[in-house]
Amino acid sequence: MKKFLTIVVVLLNVGFLRAQDAKMNDYVSKLMSQMTNDEKIGQLNLVTPGGANTGSVVSKDVDNKIRQGRVGGLFGITGPDKVRQAQEIAVKDSRLHIPLIFGLDVIHGHRTMFPIPLGLSCTWDTVLIEKAARIAAREASADGLAWAFSPMVDIARDPRWGRVSEGSGEDPYLGSVIAAAVVRGYQGKDLRNTETVMACVKHFALYGGAEAGREYNTVDMSRIKMLQYYLPPYKAAIDAGAGSIMSSFNEIDGIPATGNRWLLTDLLRNQWKFNGLVVSDYTSLNEMEAHGMGDLSTISALALHAGLDMDMVGEGFLTTLKKSLQEGKVSQKEIDQACRRILEAKYKLGLFSDPYNRMNMERAAKELLSGDNRKAARETAARSFVLLKNDNHLLPLKKSGTIALVGPLADNLRNMLGTWSVAGDPMKSVTVMSGIKNVARDVHILYAKGANIADDSMLVKRTNTLGIEIEPESRTAEAMIAEAVAAAAQADVVVAVLGEAADMSGESSSRSDIRIPESQENLLKALVNTGKPVVLVLFNGRPLILKWENDHVGAILDAWFPGTEAGNAIADVLFGQYNPSGKLSMTFPLSQGQIPIYYNAKNTGRPYAGDGNSKFKSDYLDISNDPLYPFGYGLSYTQFTYGPITLSTPEIAAGRPVTVRLTVTNTGNYDGEETAQLYIRDMVATVTQPVKELKKFQKVWLNKGESKEVTFTLTTDDLKYVNSDLKWVYDPGAFKIFVGGNSRDVVQADLMGIQARKTSTKGTMEKMPRN
Ligand code: BGC
Repeated sequence: MKKFLTIVVVLLNVGFLRAQDAKMNDYVSKLMSQMTNDEKIGQLNLVTPGGANTGSVVSKDVDNKIRQGRVGGLFGITGPDKVRQAQEIAVKDSRLHIPLIFGLDVIHGHRTMFPIPLGLSCTWDTVLIEKAARIAAREASADGLAWAFSPMVDIARDPRWGRVSEGSGEDPYLGSVIAAAVVRGYQGKDLRNTETVMACVKHFALYGGAEAGREYNTVDMSRIKMLQYYLPPYKAAIDAGAGSIMSSFNEIDGIPATGNRWLLTDLLRNQWKFNGLVVSDYTSLNEMEAHGMGDLSTISALALHAGLDMDMVGEGFLTTLKKSLQEGKVSQKEIDQACRRILEAKYKLGLFSDPYNRMNMERAAKELLSGDNRKAARETAARSFVLLKNDNHLLPLKKSGTIALVGPLADNLRNMLGTWSVAGDPMKSVTVMSGIKNVARDVHILYAKGANIADDSMLVKRTNTLGIEIEPESRTAEAMIAEAVAAAAQADVVVAVLGEAADMSGESSSRSDIRIPESQENLLKALVNTGKPVVLVLFNGRPLILKWENDHVGAILDAWFPGTEAGNAIADVLFGQYNPSGKLSMTFPLSQGQIPIYYNAKNTGRPYAGDGNSKFKSDYLDISNDPLYPFGYGLSYTQFTYGPITLSTPEIAAGRPVTVRLTVTNTGNYDGEETAQLYIRDMVATVTQPVKELKKFQKVWLNKGESKEVTFTLTTDDLKYVNSDLKWVYDPGAFKIFVGGNSRDVVQADLMGIQARKTSTKGTMEKMPRN
């Protein structure tokens, strides 16, 4: 009966959606029948009047172009009144009154800023991440916006690349579940609900594979690597219903993504069945000229033919497509198709019923930076922090005594939000100093800045391009350090708040040297030399090299960039109001020479021996292959131990899942949350497989002394890999199962994959490959 009812509900839903689609098609077809080609091409044009411009061009004469029907959408403005003004020009003054779509880089919160995405991913908590995206959507939609240029789902294995701060790290599975959660959070169930925004998955594709971690650099990788390790999060976001996708700056197989038909049509539309809107990145269409793909008219035709619908800022489509149509370089069908997809996006967002549906002064006044939103940001931030080291239970701190609060980020409003906080107001954020005062009133604080974030003039100048984040003082480094050391001498404990400025990561912020800047390293060494216990609180948009710090400092808490509630959340964790539970989503190298370094690496034919004696192994003469902190790593104030694994059956087959069971115990002195992680290794396959691959994880809350059984269900779908025919396949044979609190420290069991018995003449019960 239950099954029958489910089928009826599904059929009713399908019927309803079909009817909706038919209505939309009719509406859009009627509208398009009235449009001139100029107006159709106008819809393909996305402009920005400034604000968050990330290229050398900013759109000109925007108002007039809107009037003439030569603009389809606008990004970079916020505020219901301002957005309304622009919408009124389109709706009242353009011939066909077609509303504009308004977008913005809503990346980790809108006005209330949440932790940077890399930090958010360290929560390994998709419910929390979906909620953060929901709040961002509510704020952004109250502020006039219908379209968020996120999630960024680019997998990255190179921490020199500044944009790792905007993504979810190195793992395709974790990246996929987070990508889907953000899409659900933004879009809700129905985009006509005015508290939603349309997601824009970016950067399609493989942008995180830039050689040498250098921004906008060449990407070159095998199809197998793409499909198994880099593409899954985009696919997951699309499967979750993402309404739009942004093409990336890089090339793929020698053809820039924005003009790559294999990518934008064969894979995206034909194989993945994506039917939403594809927008270019900021002038990425025009940049195909510099890539060496031809003049503006050639590359615009190339991009349209490849499957690009909307051209961000560069106006290649606007200025060349009409002529290209006359010359037969593009077809009417291609222009119509792109225009239709943009109009459909507007239709889905309810903009034709009410072009002002997301411009609501009352909602804005009530919701932006509300107490509830700030509370959620504080809780989320505390959960994103990763405790990297905590010798002798130095943390949590007592709420009494004297703390020397030292460092250029200890009382620094400008750097709390992190990169891409376009609509965030740094002045509304909470510094670490204020947070400590709020949470531990009785603590006596001795403050000293101690060092500039950086002294290197080139680094300072480049970091400050979008606004002053590093303000070097006229005092000498020695004088600043001396003041800090004097404060430390009088204190019970030193809390050193060090790291990167907000825009030392993010777009156009690759670094060749990912250590803490020298000015601050010198300060830290002087503080350690005082002999006082030192707690290092780190602000960083990427994994850093922390070997010296790990060797010499008592406790290290990685806070990433926590957002608006930074200081409060940090104080919550420092004083034990929240027991840290974050786990790394990206490996921290031991040395820069190991980069790229990632946990799901191959064994090679001469695997690393790790004994320091063997010659002719895949290793280095001068350092170990092991990272400083592995993927999945993160401590707690308590300890968790893992019992042995039991499997419901030693054999797995298609249609015969296996349950993996084990007991996790909190053996320490605090209640806390652990993330149990399950990895597999396929021991024999037709294509070499990584030594570990994350397949499942589960968050478990355990009071002190408590044990809980954790169970995971594995199916043969979880054991699939991409073979040489570029198909996801399950290969029977030996597998290893690992479970632990990080990718290094695990318990393990053997599992045998067998072929399912034939159930019909059509073949086995094996499901179709995933991609
Ligand atoms: C970035 C995108 C961003 C766009 C619009 C580009 O430079 O790569 O991530 O969405 O600018 O601001």
